[in-house]
Amino acid sequence: MEFIEDFTPELTVKSPGRINLIGEHTDYNLGYVLPTAIENQITFRFQRNNSVSTCNLYSLTYDTGFTLDLNMISKSEVEWENYILGVLNEISKLTDRVKGFDCTVESNLPTGSGLSSSAALECGLAYGLNELFGLGLSKMSMVKLSQIAEHTYVGTQCGIMDQFASVMSKEGHVILLDCKSLEYDYVPMDIRPYKIILLNTKVSHNLASSEYNTRKQECQKGVDVIRKKHPQVNSLRDVTLDMLRPHKNEMGQTIFNRCSFIVEENRRVLAMTQALKSSKLEEVGDLLYEAHDGISKLYEVSCPESDFLVNFSKDYDAVLGARQTGGGFGGCTLNLVHETAIDDFTTAAAKAYKDAFAIDLEVFEVRPSGGTRIVG
Ligand code: GLA
Repeated sequence: MEFIEDFTPELTVKSPGRINLIGEHTDYNLGYVLPTAIENQITFRFQRNNSVSTCNLYSLTYDTGFTLDLNMISKSEVEWENYILGVLNEISKLTDRVKGFDCTVESNLPTGSGLSSSAALECGLAYGLNELFGLGLSKMSMVKLSQIAEHTYVGTQCGIMDQFASVMSKEGHVILLDCKSLEYDYVPMDIRPYKIILLNTKVSHNLASSEYNTRKQECQKGVDVIRKKHPQVNSLRDVTLDMLRPHKNEMGQTIFNRCSFIVEENRRVLAMTQALKSSKLEEVGDLLYEAHDGISKLYEVSCPESDFLVNFSKDYDAVLGARQTGGGFGGCTLNLVHETAIDDFTTAAAKAYKDAFAIDLEVFEVRPSGGTRIVG
């Protein structure tokens, strides 16, 4: 693209991916989550180009770009463009101060790996434009408009966790977020001598988006059944296992499984928070394994590759616990591994994974890191 030849960025923004320690699919059920940003991120560089409405965007990572007119925003056939277009569309509902700009995007965040490269893209763009054009948007409004952009332009009816974690995270901490009240608390993540090791299955099954929306509907069906007896219930957040059990036959096994996973997962998030605060590391690990079991058997958003890696880790005393992180159907497993055993464990996992699936495992360590920020 032409602008790249003569690019003098006025502003550089870094927008991170995230891991979720525990609390999967609880966000859109108005429950609890425990995510944090990681160091892998997307770097945005911006310059105003003095045009009224022409914007050029270029991905240095994928060597591809597109031009858009702010007065004619509509959905694109090209997936990544919709994250950009969706955010611009939401911002245009709030202000007309955005004018023509050029922007490059560069990422060291693997896509489709359950680390929320989508939220990083949405939030980094919103954050940069807010600064470049003095839009005066709060962090929370950038989080929310990025979430809505994903609903309307991408088509995933996601909860708020990913965008919240990308923008609001704090180094060395996970965020205990109550997705009902949006109150949050930073919980120190001190698990020394263990480290957070991600194993990227490198599979991202196509059904992720459609199955995601199906899970959301299944949870709503469960709520509809429970509401007949308990009209005060508005979401699975308000439900206990005792309230759920008597409705098993009426809702059927599948919906019952989905709902009981969410109820249990909310409990696990709170238990994990306590375990971290009191440094009960064995319990931290047990909760991860327990959560993965539910993800796989009750919520059914795992896949053979993730199950294989989580099971493999169980043979290693040096691994406290492991589970698939993120929306599901592949992506990364999160493993808490003793620092002296990282090489042994990851070498053995990579070999076993290659033998089983003929895929080269990607291994990397992550640390709880800060949220979206301006770096220049
Ligand atoms: C995706 C969504 C999030 C959340 C997770 C599952 O990452 O974007 O809102 O629902 O899946 O926990």
